[in-house]
Amino acid sequence: MKLPSLNIAGLKAPIPLIQGGMSIRVSTSALAAPVANAGGIGVIGGSGLPEEELQEDIRKAKSLTSGIVGVNIMYAMKNFYNLVIASIDAGVDMVVTGAGFSRDIFKIGKEKNIPIVMIVSSAKLAGLAERLGAAAVIAEAKEAGGHLGTDLALREIFPPIRDAVKNIPLIAAGGITNGYEMAEMMEKYGADGVQIASRFVLSKECDVSDSFKQAYLNAAKDDIVLTTSPVGLPGRAINTPFVEALAKGADLKAKRCDFVCLKKCDHHYCINERLNMSKDGNIDEGLVFSGENTYKMKSILSVAEIFEKFTTEAESVYREGKGFAPPAE
Ligand SMILES: Cc1cc2nc3c(=O)[nH]c(=O)nc-3n(C[C@H](O)[C@H](O)[C@H](O)COP(=O)(O)O)c2cc1C
Repeated sequence: MKLPSLNIAGLKAPIPLIQGGMSIRVSTSALAAPVANAGGIGVIGGSGLPEEELQEDIRKAKSLTSGIVGVNIMYAMKNFYNLVIASIDAGVDMVVTGAGFSRDIFKIGKEKNIPIVMIVSSAKLAGLAERLGAAAVIAEAKEAGGHLGTDLALREIFPPIRDAVKNIPLIAAGGITNGYEMAEMMEKYGADGVQIASRFVLSKECDVSDSFKQAYLNAAKDDIVLTTSPVGLPGRAINTPFVEALAKGADLKAKRCDFVCLKKCDHHYCINERLNMSKDGNIDEGLVFSGENTYKMKSILSVAEIFEKFTTEAESVYREGKGFAPPAE
């Protein structure tokens, strides 16, 4: 059966699929615009970017699509509010935020008439977000890439969050690699849509270096690990030599801070520098954030092909009463 559309505060995405925001410069307009054109919600990762660069990229994305373009900004950023306001001024359609909880963001949302979408990992924060005025909630579990707010799996955290969120869309995120899982999350668990990120790194349009994509393609299950981050949250990443050295306690402290990007930074390494390194192709010294299930994906597709694959798979089982298992090979 056809999947329902996703309506967030009047913004209607024909396909209930949000492409997760990926900083720094992993999800840019190059990815977000084709996602929006395919009927999903394209999200630019805004954390760690200079405000002017982010504004320019938002304007570029908006010029390339009439679909929905959001921005993802982590609350942990020192210039969180400036990035939010700059994004709104540049014409972004919605603000997605996580890695900390801001009550004030909802006031900005009301003042500027812009939907605020909150990423949470618990029923308590999901309910609070709705009461404070969130336009939608994303329930993100431990399978996600990047910073994590829980060590629990998606199918564990989702049911209580589903009970807590009453009247706004609830999106499932973390570890979803195909349309069968998308249909399962929507039909069996009652999600209004899904957020997917790692699958989109393995797209032709994603702006990262070829070696970043190759690191994804090469990753075996055990190569995707938990690591530490100066943000103060655990992060899920590929076990590059840098991540391995971190685990062994090597002193990787940045010699100086060029970015002053986080509200609270313990400076045990410079995350901005390490994310930029990997994005540009220095995989050994860089930090390559990745979802837990990246090892299951073995192809680079275009964004249009990813959407085609997800919707065909999902609609072959969604409300068809035959379960969510992929057909036998
Ligand atoms: C390379 C990478 C960078 C990410 N950066 C951010 C970020 O800046 N802010 C954020 O809220 N989530 C970030 N995430 C999390 C994704 O937006 C998404 O919710 C999550 O990865 C979904 O799980 P999946 O990758 O298994 O599909 C990142 C994920 C990856 C893989």
